[in-house]
Amino acid sequence: MESVAVLGRVLNRDPNGITHEEGGRSSATFPREEEMHLAVDAETIGFNPAAQLLQRTQRDGPVVKLEDGVIGIFDPVLALKVDRENAQDLKVAESLVDLLKIRKSAEPVAWREVRSLIAEQSAKLSAPAHMESLYARMHADLGMHSGSNQDLTKIVWQMMSRTLIPMVIDNVDSEGAHALIAEQELRFRVQQTQHISFRQRISDFRVLRASSRVISRELKRRVRSGDTHEDYAQSLLSLGNRIGVDRVTYLVTVQLIAISGVPGMMAACLLYAFSKYPDWYARIREETTALDADELYRLPVKKLPCTMRFIKEAMRLWTTPFVTRRIASRDIVLDGVSVMKGQTYELSSYIQHHSPEYWEDPETFDPDRWLPTRRQTAPSAYVPFGFAPRSCVGASVGHAQLLLYCALMTRDFRFDFAAGHSPRMRMDDGFAVPADMIGTISPVRD
Ligand code: HEM
Repeated sequence: MESVAVLGRVLNRDPNGITHEEGGRSSATFPREEEMHLAVDAETIGFNPAAQLLQRTQRDGPVVKLEDGVIGIFDPVLALKVDRENAQDLKVAESLVDLLKIRKSAEPVAWREVRSLIAEQSAKLSAPAHMESLYARMHADLGMHSGSNQDLTKIVWQMMSRTLIPMVIDNVDSEGAHALIAEQELRFRVQQTQHISFRQRISDFRVLRASSRVISRELKRRVRSGDTHEDYAQSLLSLGNRIGVDRVTYLVTVQLIAISGVPGMMAACLLYAFSKYPDWYARIREETTALDADELYRLPVKKLPCTMRFIKEAMRLWTTPFVTRRIASRDIVLDGVSVMKGQTYELSSYIQHHSPEYWEDPETFDPDRWLPTRRQTAPSAYVPFGFAPRSCVGASVGHAQLLLYCALMTRDFRFDFAAGHSPRMRMDDGFAVPADMIGTISPVRD
């Protein structure tokens, strides 16, 4: 499950290379008209190792030897071929208990099988009734955090992950919900902090144990009672007879990890983009306010063309995570690349999304590049949900939530940045996170 694990820190911060380039605004609600088309890289903070790696590939070619024998494979077609080969016999990872031989190992289950259960459930969870409930939870969560000046990156990030929890595992009591939210908060903190003290680690371990117990208790209750719920846990529980409830608990935890980072980071990036590109904010607002009351929950993408292009472009420019590392499960020798069993190889959505080989003006935020008349030449270069066959299995729910979020932020809430704060993008930790997003969110009253 290394691709999920890398949602933490994958690239090291350069110890001396932090630079601060001022965005030029001292106080803000929206940027002034003349500031709207600033090159995005003029507004970033910090040294970005992925950008440096991109320069290297332009000089040395798309396959490069990195530190510690890691092979970087940055050509889109080659990346897919190697990843396909590697995923062929991937199995559900054994837990620590299995590795210590404390209990008999279960019959290995192909990861492919787990993925298809999750993907099937994602399609069900994208239905209008689930979208309506998700929207209501998102609305209520933001409503609770409106009013005073706060870090809006944190507010929207945590809102996205917390409101997805019932889709992963529903029907937990309020104490259980509290434990699951504490786990999401822990993961948010880990992704934000470089150094975690020993004391903190112990306390984090307790939080993870408590969350695991909540999941296990609910799964066992369902097995005993025959009770069912429409959530990811239920679909994974269908493997219970073969792998046991403990391993299903582990698989549910993987879902909780998956929702803890990227959806929230993308939401913060979209908020950043709303503030930088008010003309796009206005176009999106026009689309979302034109929808009938319940229409949004049917995800009417044809009626939201600007919103779709805006999300697509934000996911290109601020793709997350920048790099993904995997360990080769077998010897892979193809098209002049060889990766031996046990060796690590690295793929990069950042490099693919920022390469001038595939994109015109790659550093410019230009949603209209997605107009049918301006289609890019290498579609396989665009991988916002990762690399098939290990790409995101929650993509339909994740994308739907981003659409709902755009509606929420343009119709139901307004946001204002506090005087003296000027949002900029941090790109130095292996993913894009808007910084200095201090401001307020307030409900729009009719
Ligand atoms: C905007 C929202 C989301 C984005 C941008 C996103 C993006 C990603 C990315 C980039 C990966 C790594 C793929 C790779 O290793 O090549 C991933 C993996 C994964 N995502 Fe998402 N994700 C989102 C939402 C979700 C949601 C809502 C779920 C549902 C629980 C989910 C479940 C997963 C799982 C289970 C994996 C691991 C797949 C595997 O290892 O085979 N994601 N996601």
